[in-house]
Amino acid sequence: MGPRVRLGSIAALILAAGLLAASGSFTASAATPTGQRLKTLAAAANVLIGYASMNNFDTASDSAVYQQTARDEFNILTPENALKWDATEPQQNTFTFGAGDTHINFAIANNMVAHGHVLVWHQQLPGWITGRSWTSAELTSVMNNHIDKVMAHYVGKISVWDVVNEAFNDDGTLRSSIWQTTIGQSVPGSGYIEQAFRRARAADPGAVLVYNDFNIEPMNAKSDAVFRMVQDFKARGVPIDGVGLQMHLTNGGIGTTSLRSNMQRFANLGVSIYITEFDVRLPTPASATDLNTTQPTIYRNVVNECLLQPACKSIQTWGFTDAHSWVPGTFSNQGAALEFDEAYNAKPAYFAIQDRLAQGRGSGGTPTATPTRTATPAVATSTPTRTATPAAAGTCQATYTIVNQWNNTPTSGGFQVNLSIRNTGSAAITNWDLAFAFPNGQTIAGLWNAAFTQTGANVRVSANQSWNSTIAPGATMNSVGFTGNWSGTNTRPTSFTVNGTPCS
Ligand code: G3I
Repeated sequence: MGPRVRLGSIAALILAAGLLAASGSFTASAATPTGQRLKTLAAAANVLIGYASMNNFDTASDSAVYQQTARDEFNILTPENALKWDATEPQQNTFTFGAGDTHINFAIANNMVAHGHVLVWHQQLPGWITGRSWTSAELTSVMNNHIDKVMAHYVGKISVWDVVNEAFNDDGTLRSSIWQTTIGQSVPGSGYIEQAFRRARAADPGAVLVYNDFNIEPMNAKSDAVFRMVQDFKARGVPIDGVGLQMHLTNGGIGTTSLRSNMQRFANLGVSIYITEFDVRLPTPASATDLNTTQPTIYRNVVNECLLQPACKSIQTWGFTDAHSWVPGTFSNQGAALEFDEAYNAKPAYFAIQDRLAQGRGSGGTPTATPTRTATPAVATSTPTRTATPAAAGTCQATYTIVNQWNNTPTSGGFQVNLSIRNTGSAAITNWDLAFAFPNGQTIAGLWNAAFTQTGANVRVSANQSWNSTIAPGATMNSVGFTGNWSGTNTRPTSFTVNGTPCS
C-alpha cells in the first residue's frame, strides 16, 4: 500500500497510535498536559482527532513546540491554506505543491490521516480566474483540470478531500459564486457541484469525497438544502461519501438535540460525517466563566455528539493553539477559540475533549446542558403536544435491533439500538408514540430523532420531528435509535405498542 493512511485502516492507525502512546514513547514537551494524549483516547473510541495545520508551521519561531504538540496529540490534519487554489495553481496550469507537500509529508511521517482542503471554493482564488469572464465550457475545463492535477499529485497520500466548500447561502439557496453563475445549472440535470464530485471520483477513486460548509450543523434551512442535495446525489449515483460540518461556534454553543437529529439524517443517507473546522470563539479578553465553564462545555457536547453517532469519523479543530487562529484576524475582540492557549498550555477545553474521549463511543451519553445565551435561538427540548392517530390493532410492526454492543466490565457495558415502526394498516399513523419495557434494567443514555422518557423499565419514544412523525400505510419509520447501558444481560423487549395499540 502507498503511504496514504487509508480510512479503511483507521482502526490500525489509531491502534498503533494508542500503543505508541501507551508505551510512553511519545516525547514530552513543555506543552504536554496531564492525562492521556487525545489521539490515544480517540484511538480507543475509533474516531480521528486532528487540526488545521498552519502556514509555515515548519519555519515559524514556535515551530518546535507546534510540531511536537501536533505529533503528540493528533492523528489527522488538514492544511489550513496550502491546498487552496491560490496556493496550488497560482497561474493557469502551473501547479505548485511545495507548501502542500510539507504538510502532507508531516502527516505521513507522523502516521496521521491527511484531509485535503479544498478543490472548489469561491475564496482564495487566483487573479487569473477572478480577473476575467469565462464561458461555462471554459470554466468547466478549468475546474476539471484543477481537480485532476491536484488529486493526481496526492493519490495515495490524501485520504479525504473537501471537494466543494461553502456552496450554499444560509437560506438554502445556492451561493452566487463564480462557479454557480458561470457553470451553474447550465448543463441540463447537472451543476458544477455534481460535476466536481464526478470528476473527483474519477481522479482518485480511493479518496473519500466530502461536501464541507458552515452553519449546517443543526437543522435549519441551509442544512435542509445540503441534505436534499446529498439525498439527490445518492438517489442518482453521484459520488459523495461525506459531509463536513465546519463547527465554527461562539460562546452561544449549539443545540445538541438539533445537531444530533441533523447528523442522524445525514447518516441515514449513508454518508459519513466529519467535524472539520471546530472552534469556539470568545469575546476577548476571555472571561473566567467562558474559559472554565462555557467553552469546555461546548467542546465536550460536540465531541459527545460525534461519539454517539457511528457515522461521525473525525473531529478536527481549526488550528489547535490560540497563538495561531483565524479568529482574531476576522472578528475584532474575539479569540481564545482553541484547546491550547497562546503559550501551548492545555486549556479547560482540552481537558473537556480529553475527558469525553476517554469515555468512548456510546457512554458518557448524558450531554452537559448547553449554556443558553441570548445569541442562540432556544432549541426546544420538550416533546411538543400533538394529537396522535390511534393505530388500529394489528396495524403496526415494531422492530428493535441491537446493532452494536460492547463491554465496559466483563458483565456490563453499552449498546446501540435501531428502532423502526412499520405501518401495516391502511391509514396513516401520525405523531407516533412507541412504548416498551426493558427486561433487564437497561437504561437509555441518548436517543436521536425523537423524544423519550424512561420510568424504571418503562420507555416511551415519541415523535418530535416533523419529517418522521407520520408513517404512511406500508411505510416504515426507521430513523430513530439510541445508545444505552446494560448490566448482567441485554435481552430485547418483546412487546411494543404504538399510540396505545399492541404491534405485532
Ligand atoms: O499569505 C499571505 C501573506 O503573504 C500576506 O502578507 C498576508 C497579508 O494579509 O496575507 C496572507 O494570506 C492570508 C492567508 O490566510 C494565510 O495566512 C490571507 O490574507 C487570509 O485571508 C487567509 O485567511 C484564511 C481564510 O480561510 C481565507 O478565507 C484563514 O487563514 C483560514 O483559516 C480560513 O479558513 C476558512 C476555511 O478555508 C473554510 N471555512 C472557513 C475558514 C475560516 O474562515
